Amino acid sequence: MSTSKPDVHLLQPDNACNLTLLRLLQAEGACCLSIYTSVQEMRPIRWGDKKQDGQILVLESEWLDDPEPLVVVEEGNKASEVLAFLQVRLGLRRQMVPQPQLPMMAFAGGVLLLSNRRINLYQIDDSPDLIVDVLETPVKKGTLAKRLLTLWYRVNTHRRLQEEIFRRTRVLMETLAGAIEQRDQTTGHHVQRVAALSRLLAERYYQTIGKRYSEADLDQLALAAALHDVGKIATPESILNKPGKLNNAEDTDMKKHAQKGHDLLSDTAIEVMNLAAVIAQQHHERYGGGGYPGGLCGERIRKESQIVAIIDVMDALLAERPYKKGLPKDDAYRIITEENKNHYDPVLLNVFKSYWPELYREFLQHTPPVSSACNLFHC
Ligand SMILES: [Fe+2]
Ligand SMILES: [Fe+2]
Repeated sequence: MSTSKPDVHLLQPDNACNLTLLRLLQAEGACCLSIYTSVQEMRPIRWGDKKQDGQILVLESEWLDDPEPLVVVEEGNKASEVLAFLQVRLGLRRQMVPQPQLPMMAFAGGVLLLSNRRINLYQIDDSPDLIVDVLETPVKKGTLAKRLLTLWYRVNTHRRLQEEIFRRTRVLMETLAGAIEQRDQTTGHHVQRVAALSRLLAERYYQTIGKRYSEADLDQLALAAALHDVGKIATPESILNKPGKLNNAEDTDMKKHAQKGHDLLSDTAIEVMNLAAVIAQQHHERYGGGGYPGGLCGERIRKESQIVAIIDVMDALLAERPYKKGLPKDDAYRIITEENKNHYDPVLLNVFKSYWPELYREFLQHTPPVSSACNLFHC
């Protein structure tokens, strides 16, 4: 659970309302105060790569006698959500032009609407991560500051509860992943490596294509990736632990683990579990087609599934198992990038190639020496 104090960034330090708010937030333990005197100055903060946990977000408005356009300042990856929300629900344009009838304040997953017209809350109540408060104008500046402070409490309480729910979900999912790995004694530490390497590849991939993928998204992906083989819980141990090649009937049985994994994890209405269900189902699909169970191809395969798929194969090739030696690094690289290149999205494969040394180092880091691996297999 995060215990960090919020940063506070305020516009217009000479504005009486903001100064009141500043004092109130300081009294509540806010730290790292930054004062910005123009919207332009805020931009590096708004769109910077670094997510600042607990950042308090303030937007200026005409209501505060500012001639600048209305600007939403938001926490990290909430930017697009808040903008999209405002656009769709309130009909604001992309540039957030001044809307005299609807000045507002927004921060950290919360929006305080300052409106001189009546707003029906049913219009804005279906965005579960956005805490909304509405204050009809005109209001006293002190009232505004207090309402903003209350909203800040609600947003932070909401955040803490979400963190706690995720922490508990994580414990349960990790327990489940560990149970599967115990049952499948041939693949020592495969689950942990697929989780860690998928996280790394996803980070590099989204950096490369310039699409935001937050730390929280990466955490969710790693957790979901750890359950990619959860369907093996329904695969007979005689097949899982068979030291040699599987016959046709056994192979068919083994391949059922993808769909079984999906069926086990789906319909939980928990976001990370839904992602895990999709990954479990699609991690043996191939970008060029010919995979299983759906024979999907191209972008019909979710990107996270494609990421786990390539890492799953990388690990299967490199890792030593009781019935086979691990392949040399260069052979594994050649198989993935040349022999089987049609299995993967070309852009993703290019990122994989670029960061291969880093991925390989990560693989080694999560691979215990042979003696401790033997302990794991009780051999
Ligand atoms: Fe699998
Ligand atoms: Fe696997």
